[in-house]
Amino acid sequence: MKAPASVPASVKWRLEFAGDTGSTNDLVLERARAGEEEGLAVWARSQQKGRGRMGRNWYSPPGGGLYFSALLRPPAAPDKISLMSLLAGVAAAETLGEIGGRPVGLKWPNDLRLGRRKVGGILCEYEPGGGKPGAVAVGIGINLKTPEGGFPENIPATSMEEAGCRLGGGEEMIGAILQGLGRRYRDFLCQGFEPIRKRWEGLCDGIGDLAEVSLAGEPVSGRMRGIDEKGRLVLEQPGGGECAVEAGEVIER
Ligand code: BTN
Repeated sequence: MKAPASVPASVKWRLEFAGDTGSTNDLVLERARAGEEEGLAVWARSQQKGRGRMGRNWYSPPGGGLYFSALLRPPAAPDKISLMSLLAGVAAAETLGEIGGRPVGLKWPNDLRLGRRKVGGILCEYEPGGGKPGAVAVGIGINLKTPEGGFPENIPATSMEEAGCRLGGGEEMIGAILQGLGRRYRDFLCQGFEPIRKRWEGLCDGIGDLAEVSLAGEPVSGRMRGIDEKGRLVLEQPGGGECAVEAGEVIER
């Protein structure tokens, strides 16, 4: 049966291969500035300037992982960017769990985890130009293989291979994640953030755990209760009451 005209159609993805590049987010943001429609996705064999949240580098050697970015143009994009990152995390965790045969968890705001070790991350960036609704580059990086000598010590990380997951071909895995992203994006456009919020909490592997987050430079501790309607992390504080944190790095205690 055909969906009613008011229901947005699924995204029609156009996947392009960039070979060895700087950053797939940069490629997508550049195309967005030139007016590219929603649905472009670019993947790379390696990135020399792969970046993560908080100005970190995203190590992107050839054969080590999946590196790709998707262009979406949600209405009122700047307000929605943190929700898009959570939505992309849900889609990636669900799809990788199905492909790999092991449950993939989420850590707020944007980490994908296997056995509570980071296996991937999401970086959403906004581009207002191009004469259309603003664009969001949804950048996704997944560790497929562990580098020789292991990952740096500062963040506990793993790869799908190390965690004993099944792996498909790179293009095939990216295609499946894009299909999942399109489905969750459509849910979001039709029903708002609530169904995504529930799925996100179902996938989060740290609910109920103690955590510390810095809020406006001040550390806030509490038990992680979930996320609210704005995608903020809700912490139950030791003295009672709750607080919602908009941005920051969670340190689990
Ligand atoms: C993070 O966990 O900090 C987010 C990492 C996001 C990395 C991906 S790889 C594809 C895309 N291009 C980039 O430069 N970054 C994202």
